[in-house]
Amino acid sequence: MKKPKLVVSTGAGISAESGISTFRDAGGLWENYPVMDVASADGFRRNPALVHEFYNARRRALLESEPNAAHRALADLEKDFDVYVITQNVDDLHERAGSSRVLHLHGELMKIRSVSDPDYIESLTPDSPDTTPQTRGRRGDLMRPHIVFFQEAVPMIEPAVELVREADVFVVIGTSLAVYPAAGLLHYVRPGVPVFYIDPNPAQTPAGVRVIRAKATEGMRILTDWLRKHREEYVV
Ligand code: OAD
Repeated sequence: MKKPKLVVSTGAGISAESGISTFRDAGGLWENYPVMDVASADGFRRNPALVHEFYNARRRALLESEPNAAHRALADLEKDFDVYVITQNVDDLHERAGSSRVLHLHGELMKIRSVSDPDYIESLTPDSPDTTPQTRGRRGDLMRPHIVFFQEAVPMIEPAVELVREADVFVVIGTSLAVYPAAGLLHYVRPGVPVFYIDPNPAQTPAGVRVIRAKATEGMRILTDWLRKHREEYVV
C-alpha cells in the first residue's frame, strides 16, 4: 500500500532542545548579533571576516549538539509515512537523527561554496579548520559559507512548494513564521489536508491549522499519537 506523504516544515525551535539558540526568542541570536551584519549579502560584502566568524561559532555549537527526541520521532515516522522534511535550519540534526529526505531552504553549516560559482559546494568535517575570507576550496576558488543570506534568492523554495502541494499531512514545527518565502509554504496545502503547528509560542496562523502549543519533543509525542489514531483522516 502506498504510504501517505507527510511533509514537515521545521525552524529553529526544533533544535532548541538540542541546545542550539533560536533567532527571535528572548536571548536569541538576533538579540546578540546585528542580523544585517552577520547574515545579509551587504554585511558579507562589508565585513566578510565577521560573517565567517559568526558561522564558525555556529558550527562549533552544532558539533557539541545532538539530535533530540523530536528529530528522532520524525525519522521514526518514515516507517509509516513518506516523510519529507523542509527545514529553514542550517544544522544537520535531521540527517544525524536518520531522516533520509531533508531539503535545506537556507543552506547548510557544514558546507561551504565558491564565491564565484554557486554550484561548486564542498562539505566540511568536524576537523575542518575555521573558515576565513581567504579560505580556498580544493579547486582553488575562494569559498563562503553555504548559507542563504538575507537579500539573496532562496533557490530551494520551488521544490519545497511542490512537496507541500503533494502533502497528505502537513506539519510546521518551531518557527516564528517571520521569514518569507518559507513562512508562505502553509498556503500551498491542498484543501482538506490536516495541518499541524507545534510551537510553545505560536505565531498567527490561517484558520483550520491545528496548533499544538508545546515544545517540539512533547508536541511530536502528541502528533504521533494523533497520526496513529486518525488514519482515516489522511490515508489516500
Ligand atoms: P525564530 O527564532 O524566528 O523562531 C523560533 C520559533 O521556535 C519560535 O516560534 C519559538 O516559539 C519556537 N520555539 C522555541 N523553543 C521551542 C521548542 N523547544 N520547541 C518548539 N519550538 C520552539 O526561528 P525561525 O522561524 O527558524 O534564516 O527563523 C527563520 C529564519 O530566520 C532562520 O532560518 C534564519 C533566521 O534569520 C537565515 O539566517 C537565512
